[in-house]
Amino acid sequence: MKQIPFFSLNVDHKDKKAIMRSLNNNWLTMGSQTLIFEKKFAELIKTSKVNCVATSSCTASLHMTLLSLNLKKDDEVILPSLTFVADINTVIFAGGKPVLADVNSYSDLTISPESIEKKITKKTKAVIIVHYAGYECDMKKILDLKKKYKFFLIEDACHALVSRYKKTYLGLLGDVGVFSFYSNKNMTTGEGGMIVSKNKKFLYNMRSIRNHGISKSLIERNKSILSYNIIKPGLNYRIDDLRSSLGISQIKKLKRNNLKRMMIAKKYKSFIIRNKIDVGIPFQKKIGFDYSYHLFPIILPPNINRDHFMKFFKNDGIQLSFHYIPIHKFKIFKKYGKNLKFTDYISNKLVSLPLHADLGKKQQDYILKTLYKYFKRFKKNPQISL
Ligand SMILES: Cc1ncc(COP(=O)(O)O)c(C=O)c1O
Repeated sequence: MKQIPFFSLNVDHKDKKAIMRSLNNNWLTMGSQTLIFEKKFAELIKTSKVNCVATSSCTASLHMTLLSLNLKKDDEVILPSLTFVADINTVIFAGGKPVLADVNSYSDLTISPESIEKKITKKTKAVIIVHYAGYECDMKKILDLKKKYKFFLIEDACHALVSRYKKTYLGLLGDVGVFSFYSNKNMTTGEGGMIVSKNKKFLYNMRSIRNHGISKSLIERNKSILSYNIIKPGLNYRIDDLRSSLGISQIKKLKRNNLKRMMIAKKYKSFIIRNKIDVGIPFQKKIGFDYSYHLFPIILPPNINRDHFMKFFKNDGIQLSFHYIPIHKFKIFKKYGKNLKFTDYISNKLVSLPLHADLGKKQQDYILKTLYKYFKRFKKNPQISL
């Protein structure tokens, strides 16, 4: 069996043609293709095109969103510790104080509403939730908390391209939703992001900050007068037309690819259950068309060492990963995380199995066979060195 990488890039000849079309348009920076990309993304998640702003990354989207809150010193933003570091970095760069919350349980790795409520103070201005692995957070309870405490709700929907909660696409349930098109996401533009919101004034602001604070984009100015105004200080967080062209092409196959991911996730789950393999399966009962299946996380039992487990797979040519090292486990962020019982336990027990649309049947079977083999060999003697 050849090497099985954790992830494989899903770029085909149609994607390549789309980029070439953009190159041939004689326009590389943000222009007509970006407007089309925003429109197509809006259609994908069933919202209006005015509700979507494409950006250079999700980090840029988060940074601009948090900047718009005008956070003052000691204003707090609650977020899960189990997420990518961009979430906390952008809170800090926007001048806020991060407060890290726990996940629900070993079977639900999304942020716990109970943990959020315990951490709410008079200084809480915003909450960032992460739809981990593509499964929705407990939106009923979180929206109830929002109503009660009136915080600004940001949905990090990077894993949820595209998932739904009660028929509404994730990212459209809070004040703002942010997405990433980084190359390992369910669809990609290489680097890229999207902000979605129903608040038109907020999005007008985002469009301006994205483009140095300039009142109108170049393509709009080319249509009328070239002169422009600066309405507030801004940054350069634009996506370009090359990447937008790729995004337009990738959108076309996203739902089809998510279905392939669903079939693999289904197969993994039933194999693990049928063979009584001693790992926890978060979100075990969540199967169906509402999820993006971005990751397939498992939780190792207490007696299994993660490095040992991952090395065994590596020796068999399979690359595993884990998402993530919880933020409070980094020395520089330790002070922001207290009482995170579930996150603490899973921090060195969480493993992600390869799951992507191009993973062939033979590869899936080989991954499952290796999993079976590991537990057969090491369940009783997990300390045996490899
Ligand atoms: C949950 C989560 N949040 C934020 C980000 C940051 O996205 P980007 O790389 O587009 O800045 C990522 C990307 O890896 C992510 O997975």
